[in-house]
Amino acid sequence: MISENEAFELLKQNNVVAIPTETVYGLAARIDSDDALKKIFSTKKRPFFDPLIVHIGSIEMAKKYTTHWNDCADVLAKNFWPGPLTLVLPKNDKVSPLITAGLSSVGLRWPQHPVTESLIHKLTVPLAAPSANLFGRTSPSTAQHVVDEFKNEVPVLDGGSCVIGIESTVVGIEDNNVYIYRPGKITLQDIQRVLSENKIHIKVSSKASSVAPGQLENHYQPSVPLIISQSMDSLKNYLHTELKLALNQCVELKLDTSADLFARQMYAQLRDFSKDFKAIYIIETPDQNKSGLWQAIWDRLHKASSQHLV
Ligand code: TXA
Ligand code: MG
Repeated sequence: MISENEAFELLKQNNVVAIPTETVYGLAARIDSDDALKKIFSTKKRPFFDPLIVHIGSIEMAKKYTTHWNDCADVLAKNFWPGPLTLVLPKNDKVSPLITAGLSSVGLRWPQHPVTESLIHKLTVPLAAPSANLFGRTSPSTAQHVVDEFKNEVPVLDGGSCVIGIESTVVGIEDNNVYIYRPGKITLQDIQRVLSENKIHIKVSSKASSVAPGQLENHYQPSVPLIISQSMDSLKNYLHTELKLALNQCVELKLDTSADLFARQMYAQLRDFSKDFKAIYIIETPDQNKSGLWQAIWDRLHKASSQHLV
């Protein structure tokens, strides 16, 4: 673990540092150095086709990197920043193609964490940061998770446990539409409400972005199988025949709490359970809530799971 000053010096000198945010920990590098950006990809073993989010510390800073700051972007930013919302907007040439995987748009987010906000302000340069986990694996919601993931290879700035616990809502503004590419704490209804309060009449809908590999299947995976099953019988049968496991070698991830609480400790539970059990299962029932923040939770659970049984 390192101090805020050490983090500042390391980032200034083009190194990567794990930083806290309110969603999950990020693996950060300054955006004006391709050398620094390349270190993110090599450390994470992340393919270059997966674009990075640029973390800014003010609306003024965000505007410096896009050619299209319109009323819709302004309303969303003013209502939800700093906070768990990433706005995907057309980029300008200050944004390295390494960040955007060659796309013409860039994801911008102002994270709500005092330490990280202060780092960005002192550097006066935004920080590109994907979640601080190996590519495809569970995101970290504590500093210790990052240490466990990279075995001391990455300096970590400890800012406590992430209060939201799952990644930001990613939203694209395309022509006269708002698309939610990745659900999160800020929901479709939150966005619709804020836009209509501000007399912006624009359609908001969900859309799996073809250019958002965070949306690929098999993301967020824990190190043991996660199985979602609608029946106990099919679960036991699958465990026995496919995984050669008995039920008592496995653990149930229970969804019987509030969405906020569940999201906050979801990744920590997946990591802890992976240490002590051979598989993790979820029992899916027809009465479970799948809206609001639960939609984002189920999105992550489905992508983290290796099997879905009926
Ligand atoms: O909460 C978060 O968003 C965390 C913290 C660290 O800020 N970051 C995060 O980054 O989750 P990452 O790299 O794990 O996920 C970023 C995702 C990409 O996989 C992609 O789905 C989407 O954001 N994204 C980024 N730039 C995009 C773009 N130009 N167009 C479409 N999607 C984009
Ligand atoms: Mg990620």
